[in-house]
This record gives sequence, C-alpha cells and structure tokens, in this order.
Amino acid sequence: MIRKSLENGVQTLRLDRPEKKNALTGAMYTDLAEALEAGNSNEDLRCHLICGQPEVFTAGNDIGDFLQYAGRSAMSETPVVRFLRALVRNEKPLVAAVDGLAIGVGTTLLMHCDMVFASPRAFIRSPFVDLGLVPEAGSSLLGPQLMGHARAFELLCLGKPFNAEQAERAGLVNTIVEGDVDAEALACALEIASKPPEAMALSRKLLRGNTDALSERVEEEIKIFASRLTAPETIAAFQAFMSKKKV
Ligand code: COA
Repeated sequence: MIRKSLENGVQTLRLDRPEKKNALTGAMYTDLAEALEAGNSNEDLRCHLICGQPEVFTAGNDIGDFLQYAGRSAMSETPVVRFLRALVRNEKPLVAAVDGLAIGVGTTLLMHCDMVFASPRAFIRSPFVDLGLVPEAGSSLLGPQLMGHARAFELLCLGKPFNAEQAERAGLVNTIVEGDVDAEALACALEIASKPPEAMALSRKLLRGNTDALSERVEEEIKIFASRLTAPETIAAFQAFMSKKKV
C-alpha cells in the first residue's frame, strides 16, 4: 500500500509493502498516480516526498503483475502506465529518500525527481534486459542526458548495480546521508514548500524544458515494453523468479 499524508505543504508518499520488498502492485501505482495528478491542482500541496521502508525503497514492479499484463493487449490502460504518465505531467517538485534497494522503476522514477537523498546502503539497479525487457519511464532518454551514454548503458542495458557513491557521481543522487535519510529528505521538501510557490513552479518548469520529447519516449517505451511481455525469453525470466518464491 501507499501511506499518504499532507503536512506543511509536503505530501509524503510512503511505499509500504515490506513483506514483498515494496514491489509495486497495480493498486499502489493507482494510488501514486492519483496523488501526483491531484497534486497538480492542490494549492496546499507544494512538494511531494516519496520514500520507502528501512533497507528497501522498492524492488520495482511486482513480477506477478507483469505476468498478468502479458495476457492483455491494452497495456496503455494499466495502472503502471497511468503512473508513468503522471510522473511526466507532475508539476510539483518531487523529492525521494532512498534507503537500500531501488530496483527497476525504483531506479527510473528517480530520474524524474528534483532532489534525491540516498543512504550509504542504497543499491540502485535496473535489470530490464536480464528480464527480457527494455528501460521505461523515459529513462532511455533521461538516463543518457543525465549521466552520458556509457554510464546509462551500464545501468540500463547491462543491469550493473550502482551504489550510493556511483549514483551520486552519475548525477542520480544529490546527497548521501549517513544518518536518517527520510528526515533529511523531509527537511529538503519542507524547504522547497517554504519558498514562493509561483516562482518555484516557473523555475522548475524552465529547468525541465519542453517535455514533449519525454512524453513521446515514454509512449514509445511502453509499446516496446508491452510487446516484450510476451517474448519467450521474458516469460522464462519471470517464471524463473516466481519459481524461487517461498511456498
Ligand atoms: N515482484 C514480486 N515479488 C517480489 C519482487 C517483485 N519485484 N521483489 C521481491 N519480491 C518478493 C519475493 O518474491 C519474496 O516473496 P515470498 O516471501 O513470497 O517468497 C519477498 O518479496 C522477499 O524477497 P526475496 O527475494 O526473498 O528477498 P531478497 O532479499 O533475497 O532479494 C531482491 C531481494 C529485491 C534482490 C529480489 O527479491 C529480487 O531480485 N526481486 C526482483 C527485482 C526485479 O527484478 N524487479 C523488477 C524490475 S523491472
């Protein structure tokens, strides 16, 4: 589930499914998408903060859900796709606190954040190709822009994990926090929320620039991703993961 609270202009979105390493289900994506969409027109909301649990930000998309999507033709109507579109259309600053695992979409959503705080035990990994998939959330565009082709290839195609220092060097993480990463990220979100909101919104928009190309890339990735869900090598990778589950 997603635990939501709005206080002093900061909406906290806490991923809360620790028994499954915060793997994201359709219901969780819907909650996240709704929170981002509603935030755009809520004047009391000045900043979003997304965070997880001790040692786990998120293990990415629920792999069981992936298997279900594989049978459907209309991937574009799924909660995950709604969430990806909401990320692109989000107009409010987004801060993340990453402690431990940040896998798959847990990595790629960071590319949409304005500030990312990570603990020294952050483990950032995108095993898309290993699962027979392709990068999503616009990461095939944002990744190379952020860190250059070579490092983006390492992260998004080779599936190499980045630790906190590598992620900081790659420009994915602003600050490594030795102590309470959630508290540090919240302090930053509160600082953002205390600034003149119109100037903040205009400035953020200028920094992000035109997002048409990003939207187009997200849609292109979704089409390819959806077609990959039925590829034999992808189904074999999902089944291999599912067969390791405890019964
Ligand atoms: N989807 C569904 N369930 C997941 C999951 C995911 N992405 N990640 C973890 N889980 C579940 C496990 O199946 C397990 O469930 P079980 O207790 O019913 O068997 C539980 O969460 C705990 O995970 P486990 O694998 O036992 O923990 P671990 O510490 O040994 O490993 C990970 C943690 C995250 C490294 C490992 O679970 C993993 O590789 N997950 C898949 C990550 C992934 O590929 N995500 C998709 C990216 S596109």
